[in-house]
Amino acid sequence: MMKYKSIIVTKRGGPEVLQIVENELRKPLPGEARIRILATPVVQDDVAVRVGNRPFLAKVPFVPGYSILGVVDAIGEGVANVAVDDRVAALTNFGGYAEYIFWDANQLVHVPETLDPTEAVVLILNYLVPLQVMHSVVQVMPGDKVLIIGASGGTGSAFLDLGRQAGLKMYGIASKKKHKLLYDFGATPIDYRSQDFVEVIREVEPSGIDYVFNGMGEEYFERGMKVLRRGGVLVHYGGPQSFSRFLLLVGKFILYNLLPNGKKLKGYGTHTGDISQFEDEWKKLFQLLEAGNIKPIIAAKFPILEARQANELLESGQVIGTIVLLAPE
Ligand SMILES: NC(=O)c1ccc[n+]([C@@H]2O[C@H](COP(=O)([O-])OP(=O)(O)OC[C@H]3O[C@@H](n4cnc5c(N)ncnc54)[C@H](OP(=O)(O)O)[C@@H]3O)[C@@H](O)[C@H]2O)c1
Repeated sequence: MMKYKSIIVTKRGGPEVLQIVENELRKPLPGEARIRILATPVVQDDVAVRVGNRPFLAKVPFVPGYSILGVVDAIGEGVANVAVDDRVAALTNFGGYAEYIFWDANQLVHVPETLDPTEAVVLILNYLVPLQVMHSVVQVMPGDKVLIIGASGGTGSAFLDLGRQAGLKMYGIASKKKHKLLYDFGATPIDYRSQDFVEVIREVEPSGIDYVFNGMGEEYFERGMKVLRRGGVLVHYGGPQSFSRFLLLVGKFILYNLLPNGKKLKGYGTHTGDISQFEDEWKKLFQLLEAGNIKPIIAAKFPILEARQANELLESGQVIGTIVLLAPE
């Protein structure tokens, strides 16, 4: 039988625990598609689960990889919605750091062949989050004033891109050397190491802003709420780091929403399950990319089997945008 390679987390720890293993390239089971992976991004949650910074952890060994884009290579019995050679994508949570993945055919979205796989795969998670946060959790309107906390990373840069598309007036928190990215998207950067963002925003927006989008920890809740106008909303989408932090987060959600200040705290998280909850958004994002209205920032590209080096780069904190792992040409 033919073989394929994947990258597994052998134990909790740094990028050095990532190992290449060989697997049998079996036939797909009934209802499954076998997909040759073309592109998969490296995201902060891959790191968090590997090092143990999440309340609910995958058991080792496991293959990280939150989303994939690839080509259907074989289908199991009863599969009718995709065919061999179709270009598809999926939100996998795990399994993306591999040359092949086996996936429930009903949970695949078709991807237009005209799109660059490197850019299109970034839409599946990093653009889905801001699209849903800005248009489902809250409904932004052109001219709304927003603050993006963690604006330079994979998800943060997607907020900038979709926020510009939505006609928002944006402020973003990022380290100084990454400020050019924010200017490029028409946002006002704030350096969290040398500036107090509450002071900066209160000075220029004395009546407060409409929304805060927080991809970092709950330590931003108090100051984030301070810059909101009455009726404003802080949406938190950062993953909790442990079970106790998760409980703390739940407590803070209750507490902050009881305060009689007219401001709201809302949470957002993608979860696996039926893709019908995301499919329309993905199609909208494919169209925006196709039309040139959005353009994901690609921080770096690595061959899939160099996932360890890619994770080292992400953990260095130097990254602007999203790192993508690619199949060799
Ligand atoms: N399922 C979901 O709902 C979902 C999906 C995707 C992401 N997320 C969450 O979104 C967050 C970002 O993920 P990502 O993959 O986009 O990460 P990323 O690409 O690594 O970006 C994170 C960025 O945060 C900035 N940062 C680090 N510490 C900071 C601090 N104390 N204050 C402000 N900014 C800080 C860093 O840039 P600077 O150099 O500018 O500090 C970095 O670029 C994570 O918490 C993740 O769990 C959730």
